[in-house]
Formats: sequence, C-alpha cells, structure tokens
Amino acid sequence: MSEQLNDDLRKVTAEAEQLIATAGTVDELRQAESRLTGKKGTLGQLLASIGKLPKEDRAEAGQQINVAKRDIEDKFSLARARLEAAAPKTAAEQTFDPTLPGPVVPRGSIHPVTSVIWEFEDILSRLGFVVFGGPEMETDYYNFDALNIPETHPARDQWDTFWLDNDWLLRTHTSPCQIRAMEKYGAPLRVIVLGRCFRYETEDASHANTFHQFEGLMIDRDISIANLVAVMKLMLSELFHHEVKVRLRPGFFPFVEPGFELDMGCLLCGGSGCPACKHSGWMELIGCGMVHPNVLRAGKIDPEQYTGFAFGLGLTRVAMMKYGVADIRSLNSGDLRALIRPEQRFGPAIIEKE
Ligand code: DAH
Repeated sequence: MSEQLNDDLRKVTAEAEQLIATAGTVDELRQAESRLTGKKGTLGQLLASIGKLPKEDRAEAGQQINVAKRDIEDKFSLARARLEAAAPKTAAEQTFDPTLPGPVVPRGSIHPVTSVIWEFEDILSRLGFVVFGGPEMETDYYNFDALNIPETHPARDQWDTFWLDNDWLLRTHTSPCQIRAMEKYGAPLRVIVLGRCFRYETEDASHANTFHQFEGLMIDRDISIANLVAVMKLMLSELFHHEVKVRLRPGFFPFVEPGFELDMGCLLCGGSGCPACKHSGWMELIGCGMVHPNVLRAGKIDPEQYTGFAFGLGLTRVAMMKYGVADIRSLNSGDLRALIRPEQRFGPAIIEKE
C-alpha cells in the first residue's frame, strides 16, 4: 500500500477525532460525519481515487479505506450515543407513565441476633415474663459468688474471664441478672434477660469473645420441672414456628439443682439424624434446672417458701440455627451481608445444613 494513502487515512482519522471532540450537538456530529465519510467527503474522494492506482494495488487500497471508514463511523456513533444520553428529554419523552412500577428503594434490614431477641421478648412477655437488663461490667460477686460459684469452686474455670483493672469483670454469662432481679423484685418473679456476654476465647467459626445469651428465671410457690419443660417447649415451638420435641439430660451448673441440658429434636431431619444434629436427631440447646437454694438465699428469697427454674442459652447460636449462619464471626463483623433478608424475617424457621 502506498505511503501516501496510509498518511491520508491517518489524517482523516485524526480529523474525525478532532471533530468529535468539538461537536456540541448531535446535528453537528452528523454534519461532520458526512463531511468525512459521505460521497463527496474526504473518504469518498479517496475511494474514488482508487481507479487511478495500478490495477494490482486497487483491492488492497479499497480494503484499507473501508477499514478506516468503519472505524470512523463507529467513533461517530459512540459519540452520538453519548450526546443523546446527556441531552435533555423532549416533552414527549418526559411524560409521566403512572402504570410503570416505581423505582426500587433498597430496604433496610435487621441483624439476626436482634430478630431473635425481639421474638423471644415477644413470646416470653406473653407468658408474663418481664424483660430485665443488667450491666455488662460486673463484680465477681454477681458473676460468680452469688451464683453458688465460690472462688475455690472448680466450675469457675469454665468461665474464662476478661478481668478489668478495677477488679470488676466483663460478665461471662447473663446469670448474674438472676440475682439482680431477685434483689429488685423479690418473689414471685418472672424475668428474662437478653444481652451481651464476653469470654476470653480464641475465635473460630463457632466461638466468639463477644456473644449474646438469653436467660430466664421463674420463681413462685410450687414451681416444678414440669413448668420448666412446658415453658421451654412452648418457647421453642413458637420461635421455630414448628412443634418441637424436647428432652432433658442431667447437666451440671452450680446455680441449679438438679441441673439439666435440654435438647431439642432436630428440625432439619425430624429426628432421624443428619449432619446438622451430628446424626443424633437432637440438638443441645439450653442449660437449665431448678434454682439452687443458695442462689435464692443470695437473692433474699426464702427457699422454704419458693422454688423456681432458670434457663440460659446462646442467643447467637439460636440466631445461627434459625437463619442458617455458618460462621459466628460474620455476625460481629459489620458486614451488611450478615443481615437477614426481608423474606427471611418470619421464616422459614428451618435449621440449615452445616
Ligand atoms: N450461665 C450458663 C452458661 O453460661 C447457662 C445457664 C445454665 C444458665 C443453666 C442458667 C441455667 O440459668 O439454669 O453456660
């Protein structure tokens, strides 16, 4: 191909770019384009001049000119699209169509733990329980001693504690609120506490140093284990929107006697065994028992006249079960993807697979 043609094509392309850059309207663009690519335009004339070339050079020259022409036309149509998009709409285009769906406004959502807190508060307050709160910074008296865990007691090792400089601590469970509630209200008493607890834990997918617990306490005359089981069964069935089975196994907690671990029949497999329940058909969920007489005494309630049950469970764990959260760390991460989607708000209350 001749140097001359090459040079000419480079010049037209540069000229096209210059015209595109300075054109302010779609009309100006159109005129500029036809000046370059139209029959009488620069490219048209170049095409017409092919006839003057030696025969063997004509095909190649024609091809080169057409490639350049297409490239220039593409540049113009892109520029036109840009200008059209930016141009103000005509009155006809601006008319409001009330039949079109409105713009989608992103909806806010809530944290799985918040959702479970609200649900438990709702369920238990319908049974006459008062929502009670206590400090997250506690004394060792409320966190341990008053709960029948003296300094020398081996159970104290279970609660790896963040101690503060002033000899207080970050509460390791919500149980200290049992004592505070008894001191405040006396008997009979029905309270629940839903709040943050802290333990000196190495974090992994199922352990966090900051987590939520849910504590309940019911004290009255003639309260028995049957009352405990009835309340637990009702509470879990309401939470999971599904009739649940429960069973008690002996368990040790210094502040209850007898103490139990309460298991819930696995909702995923219905009890036949699956990975979520480690093939046992049951999920360990709640620590509970009859309030130890020493604890009643610490709360200034006479164990000769009153009995009570108490229970405690990991709210964070329940939220993970209910909303199928695989890694506890995502719940404290601030990552908005951990929030529940609106369609999950009221279910399906089914535990997802591991
Ligand atoms: N405080 C216990 C813990 O953190 C849970 C617990 C067990 C609470 C039994 C109770 C109870 O009220 O009766 O593991």
